[in-house]
Order: sequence, then structure tokens, then C-alpha cells
Amino acid sequence: MKKIAIIKEKLDCFNKTISVQGDKSLSIRCVLIASQALGVSRAYNLLESEDVKSTIKALRKLGVKIIYKKNYYEIYGNGLNGFSFPNNTVINAQNSGTLARLILGVLAKSNNSVILKGDSSLSRRDFSRVIRPLNYFGVKIKSNNNKLPIKTKGTKFLKPIFYEELKGSAQVKSCIMLAALNSPGITKIKCVPSRDHTERFFNHIKIPFKKTKKNGFDIIEIKGQKQYKSFNYKIPGDISSAAFFIVLTLLSKNSKILIKNINVNKSRTGIIDILNIMNAKIKFKNKRIYKSENIADIYVQSSSSLKSISCPKTFNSRAIDEFLLIFLACAKAKGVSYFKNIGELRHKECDRLKFAGKFLKMIGIKSIQTKDSLKIYGNPNLSLNSEYEVKNFEKDHRVCMLSFIGALTLGGKWKINDIESINTSFPKFIDIIKKIGAKIN
Ligand code: S3P
Repeated sequence: MKKIAIIKEKLDCFNKTISVQGDKSLSIRCVLIASQALGVSRAYNLLESEDVKSTIKALRKLGVKIIYKKNYYEIYGNGLNGFSFPNNTVINAQNSGTLARLILGVLAKSNNSVILKGDSSLSRRDFSRVIRPLNYFGVKIKSNNNKLPIKTKGTKFLKPIFYEELKGSAQVKSCIMLAALNSPGITKIKCVPSRDHTERFFNHIKIPFKKTKKNGFDIIEIKGQKQYKSFNYKIPGDISSAAFFIVLTLLSKNSKILIKNINVNKSRTGIIDILNIMNAKIKFKNKRIYKSENIADIYVQSSSSLKSISCPKTFNSRAIDEFLLIFLACAKAKGVSYFKNIGELRHKECDRLKFAGKFLKMIGIKSIQTKDSLKIYGNPNLSLNSEYEVKNFEKDHRVCMLSFIGALTLGGKWKINDIESINTSFPKFIDIIKKIGAKIN
């Protein structure tokens, strides 16, 4: 059922300590990697969102036993390529690009065919980026013009590959790394740096691989066909979910927030670096290392003196899911902000660059965009008092949550459609925002 939120009041003057739900990238990887381990793994604080539920459902269809215990999931891994499922098994990845791309790698050696489907947003998205390297491995894939639905059939005779990944996509890199686990010989990936959770996970559970740097690229080499053992893992909080509260606090008056236990792995903290360059003073407290990942509490205070940024493109992949929030901060910053090489935003759950243009126009902010760049003419005095409606955004969860932050920081009366989309990544978002003091109907 379509659900709507109405917000009529800004939110100022709060001082709160909160936690957000588990990291989505790590939750999906944890379950996928555990499904091929030898033995029973336990996943604590697994994100219980639609994308992760789709991952669990998909693996159950592949014959993996997954059960929910009191506060953790047990995943019964049958070893590499230990799946057992009938020919032409249908897997529905729903809205999840990460699940869809990574599971194609996991299935590289399976005998039987899988038909991979998704919802209308995922069915618009490009799969050539993973079909090409998988074809080199020897996997047979039929697609709908490089889109879903896809029929994939693995091969016993996987060939290791050398692949150049130039988009800075962690999904593509991870798909290849997972396929490489099943392949004899050494697979080598030369890639633009992107989030490195798969590498850190492999490190933690002692899957051997080599990672070096050359001329700004990461070079990853994996020797496949080595079984690995089951593990226990507690998923840390998701910085992409924390990001909504970071920007909410920054743009609200006289407010402070402490967000506990967040994954602040350097490949994910682009938003913090960008906002701090813009004059925010966001701090990490209680920094620690957990199972090869960096964790910290994030402390944020209101800022009334944000300035514009000309964003170095090396931040792009490190902030890829947070750009809509960064654009909102730029709307309230002094000066003209500029982002280049951000065309990947057009390939997310919706065309987020196109949406950004519409959103900025709606709130009265001038912006100019090209195929892969955006200029935002900020206004530190921006304050709204008319009526606003956010609709037709392909049910993109991040667009929906951004709109809440816009409504709560800019004023005016807002109607936000399709709020059930939030369940894709952050089902507790509305509860938390209400606890902070927001009035939402
Ligand atoms: C993800 C990688 C990113 C990101 C997505 C999650 C991952 O996508 O946008 O939300 O978990 O690997 P790309 O790899 O397409 O940049």
C-alpha cells in the first residue's frame, strides 16, 4: 500500500544520542560469504531491511539453511559452490543492486540455471558491468539487453580473468572477487578504488588474496578454490543511514547528536570529509577496530557557516550513496558548489542527478547540470514557507529519506509519497526521527 508522510514543522534544538541499524553492504556480504563457508556462521545485528530479506530468501532458494535465533541469524554454509537447487530457479532481487550483482558472482560455477529478476527500478539498471567479466570467466548469461531478467548458467570450467574496472564500482569488484573464489588459477582485477568491505571481510576470515596500489588503481589478485571456515560477525551501524542525521543536525539550529557504533571505514567516509571541508566540525569519538573494519561514534553539531565546495573527484566513490544529502547541505552553503564525474548517480535506484535538479528547483535553489556534473548556487538564508510534494522517484529509499531531512530543516508544508520505500535500507528511520522530536503525520 502506498503510504504518505506530511511534515509541517521544522526541527530545531535537540541534543540526542542515537544508534542506526546495521550496515547494508556488510549485511548482504556477510550472508552471501557465509553461505559458501564450511559450517555454521552467526550474523549479529544483521540489517532487517527489504534488501537483506531478499538476500536471505534468495539463498534459501539455493538450498542454504538460514534460521533466525533470538538475536542472530545462523547461516549453514555448504562450502564453495555447495548450493543445491533445481534448474531454472527464480531469484527475485527486488530493489537490491548489491544482491543482484554479487549473487551473479557467487553463482559462477553452479550447474543449474538461475533466472534473476528485480522490481521495476532494478529492471531499469545496467548489468553489462557484471555480465562482461562473468562472460570472460566462462559463465553463460542471457539478458534483456543487459538488463533484468537475466538467465545465468555457471560452468565447471571457470577460467581466471584479468579485468579492468574503471567505474569505481564496489559491486562489480565484489562480483568478480566472489566468482574468483570458485575459479582455478589467479584472477587479477585492476580497479578504481571503491568501498572495500569484501577485501576486509576476506582478510578477517583469512581468504588469501593480494592487494597493492599502482598509479592510483587498486590491484587485487585472488587464487581461487580454497575452502574457508564459518565465522561469527556483528554488523556495525551504517554510515549511509547515519548520514541523514548528520545533515539533519548540521542544518538544524542549536542541535547536537552522537551517533553510536558506526562503520567509518575510509572507503565510506567521503561525506564527513566533504562536509568538514565545507566548514562542518564532525568528529569521530571512541575509534576502534572490529574484525578488520573501523568503528567510531560520530559527533555532530549545528553549523550556520557552511561554505561551498569544489569537490575533488577522488571523493566520489567514497560518498556515492550520500550525494543527495551533500547537495542539500550545499543548498544552504555560501557560494557555488561544483561536483564533477558524478554520472554514476544516474545509475542508482533512480536517476539521482535528475532528481537532484528537480529537488533543488523545488526548494528555490539554482543548479546547472550536465551528463555527469552539477553546480549548486547555495543560499545560507534559505527558508521555506510554501507547500511541497515529493513524488515519482522510482521509490528510491534515499530520495524519500532526503525529503524528510529537507522538510525538517527548511520549513514549509511537505507531502512525501511512497514512504514504504524506506524499508529497503532503514526500516527504523521514522521511529528514530520521531524520537529526536520530529512531528510526522
Ligand atoms: C554498494 C556499492 C555502491 C553503492 C551501493 C552499495 C555495495 O554501488 O551505491 O548502494 O554494497 O557494494 P556501486 O558499486 O554501483 O557504486
